[in-house]
Amino acid sequence: MSAPSASAIAVSIAPQSFEIRPFSGAVGAEIIGLDLALPVNDQDFARIHRAHLEHHVVVFRDQRITPQQQIAFSRRFGILQIHVLKQFLLTGHPEILIVSNIIENGQSIGLGDAGKFWHSDLSYKELPSLGSMLHAQELPSEGGDTLFADMHKAWDGLPQALRSAVEGRSAAHSYTARYSETKFEGNWRPTLTPEQLAQVSEVVHPVVRTHPENGRKALFVSEGFTTRIVGLPEDESRQLLAELFAHSVLPENIYRHQWQPHDLVFWDNRSLIHLAAGCPSHLRRKLYRTTIQGNAPY
Ligand code: SIN
Repeated sequence: MSAPSASAIAVSIAPQSFEIRPFSGAVGAEIIGLDLALPVNDQDFARIHRAHLEHHVVVFRDQRITPQQQIAFSRRFGILQIHVLKQFLLTGHPEILIVSNIIENGQSIGLGDAGKFWHSDLSYKELPSLGSMLHAQELPSEGGDTLFADMHKAWDGLPQALRSAVEGRSAAHSYTARYSETKFEGNWRPTLTPEQLAQVSEVVHPVVRTHPENGRKALFVSEGFTTRIVGLPEDESRQLLAELFAHSVLPENIYRHQWQPHDLVFWDNRSLIHLAAGCPSHLRRKLYRTTIQGNAPY
């Protein structure tokens, strides 16, 4: 009798027993009992994927995972994007952006002011992010929360006059929209080289996008990266954007994440914008971010 071929010997991965508990507020759910240091089989992965689409932000509690494991899990959702600020990529793992306020030897070890303005990650790229995973490494004893606002609800609840004003319109997004401001205030930002500037030239996206997986519409502008509505005079564009920004962050549409040790938070940048609330500067905060590439918004 001949030996079975390698493809006939299916290695089965044991299912894990875990719970998905929706939060009581606007969006979000926590996942308890899953260990991302262990292999995740296709059925468990499908459950996680569905939870991510349904709740827009999922919090995997108590994940003692290595950067390599975070990268491998992130890759199951798509291609990983490498941040333009190479200075803040984790040595040996360029897929990880260090988000941190820690200064060592007079140098920032990470992007200290990431998320200081509401934004959707990498909306300034032709292919903005599908979602981001942020893994807690060091947390401050006070502050350091991350806020998430539901942009589907922002669209659903947009007053008719604003809907009519934006439907069919596009907006420009720029990485450098707030760059000089953040650099000046916090001094965290290195000057971009001509090569880096070329990687982040302005892009244009629809103001209202359709989520490619759940089919829902979402507002797709943010104070962090959106600079103008295409085709409107500057003052009209500024006024319209100010109204959209204000409407996007109504308190009832916000989830405020208070970090616990070893949290891995995975949010959908097609459904949400987010904001880092900040912490006192003498308290150390360090997180590792992977960013998954999404589709061209339509
Ligand atoms: C980010 O915008 O990716 C960082 C958010 C945070 O630091 O809480």
